[in-house]
Amino acid sequence: MSRITIHIEHYSRGLIMGVILLLSLINQVALAQQLTAQEVEAKVDNLLKEMTLEEKLLYIGGYNDFYIRPIPRLGIPAIRMADGPIGVRNAGKSTQYPACIALAASWNDELARAYGESLGRDSRARGVHILLAPGMNIYRNPLCGRNFEYTGEDPVLAARMGYGLITGIQSQGVLATAKHFAANNQDYRRFDSNSVIDERTMHEIYFPAFKSAVQKAKAACVMCAYNLLNGDWCSANKYLNIDILKEMWGFDGVLMSDWGAVHEITAVANNGLDIEMPGGKYLNPDNLAIMVRAGKVKQATIDDKVRRLLRVIVRAGFLTQEQKLDYPLDDPKCAAVALDVAREGIVLLRNENNTLPLNTSNAKKIVVVGPMGGHIAAGGGSSKVEPFHEVNTVDGIKSILGDNGEVKYFPIIGRMVSNEIAKSSVFGHTDDSGEIKPGIKVEYFNGIGLAGEPVLTRIENIINKMSPAAFSVEGITGGEVSVRWTGMITPKTAGEYSLTACCDDGMRVWFDDELIVNEWSDHAAMVVQKQKTLEAGKSYNIKIEYYQKTGDAVAQFGWGMPKNSLSDAVAAAKEADAAVVCVGFGSDSEGEGSDRSFTLPAGQEDLIKAIAAANDRTIVIINAGGNVDMQNWLADVPALLMAWYPGQEGGQALAEIIFGKVNPSGKLPATFEKKWEDNPSYKNYGLTNGHDIEYKEGIFVGYRGFEKQNIEPQFPFGYGLSYTNFKYGKPTVTVERENDLPVISVKFTIENTGEFAGSETAQVYLSWLDARLPQPVKALKGFQKVALQPGESKEVNITLSTEALASFDPEIHNWIIDGKKFEILIGSSSADIRGKAAFTLK
Ligand code: BGC
Repeated sequence: MSRITIHIEHYSRGLIMGVILLLSLINQVALAQQLTAQEVEAKVDNLLKEMTLEEKLLYIGGYNDFYIRPIPRLGIPAIRMADGPIGVRNAGKSTQYPACIALAASWNDELARAYGESLGRDSRARGVHILLAPGMNIYRNPLCGRNFEYTGEDPVLAARMGYGLITGIQSQGVLATAKHFAANNQDYRRFDSNSVIDERTMHEIYFPAFKSAVQKAKAACVMCAYNLLNGDWCSANKYLNIDILKEMWGFDGVLMSDWGAVHEITAVANNGLDIEMPGGKYLNPDNLAIMVRAGKVKQATIDDKVRRLLRVIVRAGFLTQEQKLDYPLDDPKCAAVALDVAREGIVLLRNENNTLPLNTSNAKKIVVVGPMGGHIAAGGGSSKVEPFHEVNTVDGIKSILGDNGEVKYFPIIGRMVSNEIAKSSVFGHTDDSGEIKPGIKVEYFNGIGLAGEPVLTRIENIINKMSPAAFSVEGITGGEVSVRWTGMITPKTAGEYSLTACCDDGMRVWFDDELIVNEWSDHAAMVVQKQKTLEAGKSYNIKIEYYQKTGDAVAQFGWGMPKNSLSDAVAAAKEADAAVVCVGFGSDSEGEGSDRSFTLPAGQEDLIKAIAAANDRTIVIINAGGNVDMQNWLADVPALLMAWYPGQEGGQALAEIIFGKVNPSGKLPATFEKKWEDNPSYKNYGLTNGHDIEYKEGIFVGYRGFEKQNIEPQFPFGYGLSYTNFKYGKPTVTVERENDLPVISVKFTIENTGEFAGSETAQVYLSWLDARLPQPVKALKGFQKVALQPGESKEVNITLSTEALASFDPEIHNWIIDGKKFEILIGSSSADIRGKAAFTLK
């Protein structure tokens, strides 16, 4: 793991890297011929003049779900979009990267850039012009279903990761989209909740990543959020879209709607949105021609939208550039980046008695237990990419041990198990003559209510439907469908059986009239498992009801004797040199469209406890987009790795860390609370008046809130263990002036005092000593990841711009420097401060 650390401020470093990259790319990427700003505007003017009003009104509504429509007579091609940010979706299989929260945990600007470049390469390989990435929302609480797509709780960290991603994507001739603007910090009720946030909090916490995306990274596109902000839909929010984005920040690109986030015509047309996606349901010629004629929407307003669309298209060279390049679809260069991000993003949270790293000479017999050991978990929703291949944890450990070791795997519970069980389950039904026949009776209904007569009734063998297409049977006319299965199961042998259901959206299951699964709501795929002791030869009635509303669709049900029971796994763990327990969430339990539980999915805590009791070298690996409840088991577990969703190469990275081939260097991009109740947003997460999410914690999000209330977290922001130790030298702080504005230069040394080569992310926090406004105990202002050989020492030099000192004063609605006396704190985490130095501004 070698990296070159250049000691300069990150944006200028970004610039230098950009130049280097550009030079290296000249031969690879068919870069469009760069036009000057004037040439771009002139070309756009000419095109605008050629367009009829009808054409313009049509142009500001999307086309074919993921396109800006073509205008062949003017030589304007269809502009293709695809989802990100965890890979390029909507175009078949693609590289599945570690989740962006894992990237944030790497705290590595160069990796963010490389991740972005790879997303750009994958996009070019598929002819994608606009990538709907990155996600720039702040991690406000651990439950948010999309935390994994974002980059943590701190605005400085989020802005820097976003900067790397956006400049990386755009360096490949693909436009990036900063989403979802703004204040979409939970998925529970994301479609209709109203985020109520004061002005200072917006500017200091929820806006900075977007501001940097637009002003520094020059993102070509921004996507609005579904929710309302302070009473107005984000898609029609003048304050957000015109006053802030376009006027205050000077954004000259395209503001697109999220898919289906538009609910009105004039307010949307007049308040800054440039294109309605996925189509012009509201912004279309029929609706808008009348408005333009009546003077309710100015012609100039329409022209501005079209101008912006054409501007980004012309500027990127899409009129002349062949977007699809001959890159491999399964690109080894991108896979290598996915592996690097996993290696640096995985966080070692606990390592009692130096349990890790394991040594291949004395840890040869390994038992892997738990649902995520045999497959790579990923968050669900629009960012979910199906990879060409994956290396799961079992594969990773096997490849390191080779023929010298033995790996036994016991999945026990979860989605993988539900697939297996569903495929192999046998059902019966009673036919009209009263005879028991093979297969189960299935009734399909239009709509979600199982209402009226079924449109189709037939016998099917198994219950294993895994996509919306699986429900488009004869007679079903739309996406909304409901289904009833009626039949029976008859075990051949007596014993303990698992009944396993997996559903997205609602499902309820009756077992002999007992309601054993009751998940009758819209949600991402989730697995529910019930145990029953069954008699041989006896038939048990099964009735299942299911509905599918929108998005992904899954209905699986099966029954069987668990192939591997917990007692088998415990017995094997007792014999093993070490046990690895792979638990957490996945696309069936964490993802877009809903929030998740703080506790691990059913059965997983028991699994951890049972294995930890059987083997005192138990390593727990968690897959999740954020923190989970650890109180019931943490003390029993000697080693704990936070793997987030580590992407297609994740199992290799995990195995390399477990066996010390890679020294972990990830650090938490969010505070991990002991209890969900400790989170600063806990009391303000639910909806008041059934509608408002009041961000009453204000700027005190994440560690700012924990520190203000003096609540000790389980693991603080910025925390992560290494196999080596780092010693910090005393910091020196000097105040310099640039254009008469203060710039703070912070210098200190870091030395690797241990025996492993490793990387340390040094963090620089600011603390206010004579503030007038309420201020956090400290706030992150800079950081640098430094790679050090054993015994090596390096000087770290971090420059903080004036912006880093600024606070938003709500009285004057502008930025100020609050006070004169400050302190700089340098540390290995927000709770492990290694040095301080005060300074005073004149
Ligand atoms: C998501 C966006 C995504 C879009 C298109 C929406 O539901 O919120 O992030 O880009 O769908 O798939």
